Amino acid sequence: MKKDGISAQLPRTPTGVPGLDSLIQGGLLKGTSTLVTGGAGTGKTIFCCQFIWEGLMRGETCLFISFEEPPEDIIADAKNFGWDFEGFIGKKKLFLEYHDPFQVTNITSLLVERIKERKIERVAIDSTSILGLYFKDAFEVRKQLYKLLMALKGTGVTTVITAEIPEDSKKLSRFGVEEFVADGVIVLHYIGVGEDSFNSIQVRKMRRTSHDKNIFSLAFTDRGLVVKK
Ligand SMILES: Nc1ncnc2c1ncn2[C@@H]1O[C@H](COP(=O)(O)OP(=O)(O)O)[C@@H](O)[C@H]1O
Ligand SMILES: [Mg+2]
Repeated sequence: MKKDGISAQLPRTPTGVPGLDSLIQGGLLKGTSTLVTGGAGTGKTIFCCQFIWEGLMRGETCLFISFEEPPEDIIADAKNFGWDFEGFIGKKKLFLEYHDPFQVTNITSLLVERIKERKIERVAIDSTSILGLYFKDAFEVRKQLYKLLMALKGTGVTTVITAEIPEDSKKLSRFGVEEFVADGVIVLHYIGVGEDSFNSIQVRKMRRTSHDKNIFSLAFTDRGLVVKK
């Protein structure tokens, strides 16, 4: 992988996933949004928790927006890996919010306001797929997601947004808009071969980044996700 050039000097936001940041010149581009996509159980929620934990360890103020799991579940998921979200919520370094997908039309301006007010630097949004249940048509979901991602971009936060897609899907996102608006796309896969199975990770797109496009094995450890060389 090329290490020189302008892209190597841009400010980066490390994901906290061991083995991933070295594939993308040190991390996600600061101020951009990255879509993490994959089937059920491929690690999307763990990825979000790990990304947020890394931010907390770096002293950043973080926001975790869940559209699917209530905050207690996210806290329990994180605790499972030794990440104490509760402590940081108490210190007002982590804001963990469940939002009713029905209300997403109203959350964009609300979020932007909060991000500015609380000086949030890192945001995770998990997951956008459920929005499909709440809107009459794909056009409306696309419009809302577009609005949300563009608004986040305007605030300067670094965002990870997830989307669940059927395991056999050739598409990168559920609504076909996220991958265009997002600056990066990371694809998680579950592959079952006979009695064996393994998980993988691939950086499909990362603007202004010289990145490794290979498919790597992804290990689920008791300290979170680890990319294996
Ligand atoms: N402590 C652990 N050690 C190893 N694997 C785990 C652990 N906790 C959860 N997992 C794996 O992670 C999966 C859930 O990952 P998750 O991020 O919630 O998936 P999703 O992509 O659906 O959000 C579980 O199905 C399990 O395979
Ligand atoms: Mg999940």
